[in-house]
Amino acid sequence: MVIGRSGEGAAKLKQNLLRYMKRKDIKVPEDFKIDIVDVQEPESNAMIVAHMIAEALEVPAARIFFKERKPQRGREQYEKFDEQGRSILVQENGLRFVVNLTDYLDTGLFLDHRPTREKVREQAEGKRVLNLFAYTGSFTVYAAAGGASATTTIDLSNTYLEWGQRNMELNGLAGPQHEFVRADVKAWLEQAVDGLYDIVVLDPPTFSNSKRMEDVLYTQRDHPELINGCLRRLAPGGQLYFSTNFRKFQLEPERLNTKNIRDITSATIPKDFRNPKIHYCWLITGG
Ligand SMILES: C[S@@+](CC[C@H](N)C(=O)[O-])C[C@H]1O[C@@H](n2cnc3c(N)ncnc32)[C@H](O)[C@@H]1O
Repeated sequence: MVIGRSGEGAAKLKQNLLRYMKRKDIKVPEDFKIDIVDVQEPESNAMIVAHMIAEALEVPAARIFFKERKPQRGREQYEKFDEQGRSILVQENGLRFVVNLTDYLDTGLFLDHRPTREKVREQAEGKRVLNLFAYTGSFTVYAAAGGASATTTIDLSNTYLEWGQRNMELNGLAGPQHEFVRADVKAWLEQAVDGLYDIVVLDPPTFSNSKRMEDVLYTQRDHPELINGCLRRLAPGGQLYFSTNFRKFQLEPERLNTKNIRDITSATIPKDFRNPKIHYCWLITGG
């Protein structure tokens, strides 16, 4: 194990670590060795954590990818920041997805919506499904796998739309009934377009200021307009899943054109998530 500390701090840290392992009943291997490297940079703490994770999970340190989420200013969270292209295939509930470990802050699959995706799959048989702010199309893959008769997947980014199509192909689900559309969701919802949907997934980012859209998007400010726009696209009996990861989000029901709003947050948080506020989620129907 490599520990980045200098002088006395390192010895203390070593002691604390051994004590921690004992307390947690982590077996200390006979050849357990701690190397102390003298690093002063704040990043060194992350290095230490990465090495601890590598040890605890018995994964080689070179296979740990480190990302740091910092407050984003004037730049989109979904922009590329590297070009290494280290992608792998993962499985979730029997479906396959490409995740990219190096090039973006996020990998391409948000794990907190596993149960919500599963709900969509369970309900999708014969349904028309609309996936807004679709990112890499994981909700679309679940809907198609559940037998959706048609899906429309909308995102501003061609990169993510292509990624979504690749995810569909990987699962043998691609076809002309599954359309991928590059559009600004706000503008798209304002257009008078034919076609209604039985299931709509609306999972916008907290904030978006892409140069490809006319306006800035704030989910807190804009959610009534977005939800009301989706309600206009809902077929009779249709269901809208609205979700946000914005911790301070406050739903404004008085500004919505329906009273049928059910908070399903707790039913959509995976059991292995420590934080019950990783997202909020509502099931909304017309009327
Ligand atoms: C937080 S992700 C959404 C997560 C996604 N719903 C999922 O299930 O994985 C945000 C996505 O919204 C897209 N986006 C941001 N602003 C947009 C806009 N105005 N219209 C369409 N897509 C937008 C981004 O390109 C990105 O793919």
